[in-house]
Amino acid sequence: MFTVSILTISDKGSQGKREDKSGDAIREIVSQMDARVVDYAIVPDERDIIAKKLTGWADSGKVDMVITTGGTGLAPRDVTPEATLDVVDRIAPGFAEVMRAESLKKTPHAMLSRAVAGIRKKTLIINLPGSPKAVRECLEVIMPALPHAMETLKGEASECADTQKVVEGKTRGK
Ligand code: MTE
Repeated sequence: MFTVSILTISDKGSQGKREDKSGDAIREIVSQMDARVVDYAIVPDERDIIAKKLTGWADSGKVDMVITTGGTGLAPRDVTPEATLDVVDRIAPGFAEVMRAESLKKTPHAMLSRAVAGIRKKTLIINLPGSPKAVRECLEVIMPALPHAMETLKGEASECADTQKVVEGKTRGK
């Protein structure tokens, strides 16, 4: 079991002008895994505010994974990747690589997401694009690798013995 915090990054959402359907989509998908949502916040597209929230959760030692949604595009106020890179100790490029690659099969706009992923202390931080559709499409792609990612990050996996089962689709995010 691992713990997840959800951070929605949206100017409109943080002002109560838009319903957070993307945060709800993350919550729904996380509930299909052996994982528990322990915290949630919605913040505006402000680099310092995003970085502070990520730091607070990671440094609490209570959050294994932070999933962010929004602010990864090319719009002038899209700064989620920069805020994430401000706070991570190590990058984990595979998540964004595979999300973009698989998403490109669905829409050419996938290449517009600048999402990144990385590790601060023992917390994995993964950016997702902002729309509920993109959230679903991206999480679906990385879900099978998340349990093993958590094990290795926490130092619980002695070896990668189960990797083949994941590849063969025998473990579905559990
Ligand atoms: N990825 C997937 N899988 N599905 C999508 O519909 N939308 C794209 C892209 N990634 C999309 C996607 C679009 S239209 C944009 S602008 C970028 O993500 C950035 O979105 P964001 O600024 O809301 O984070």
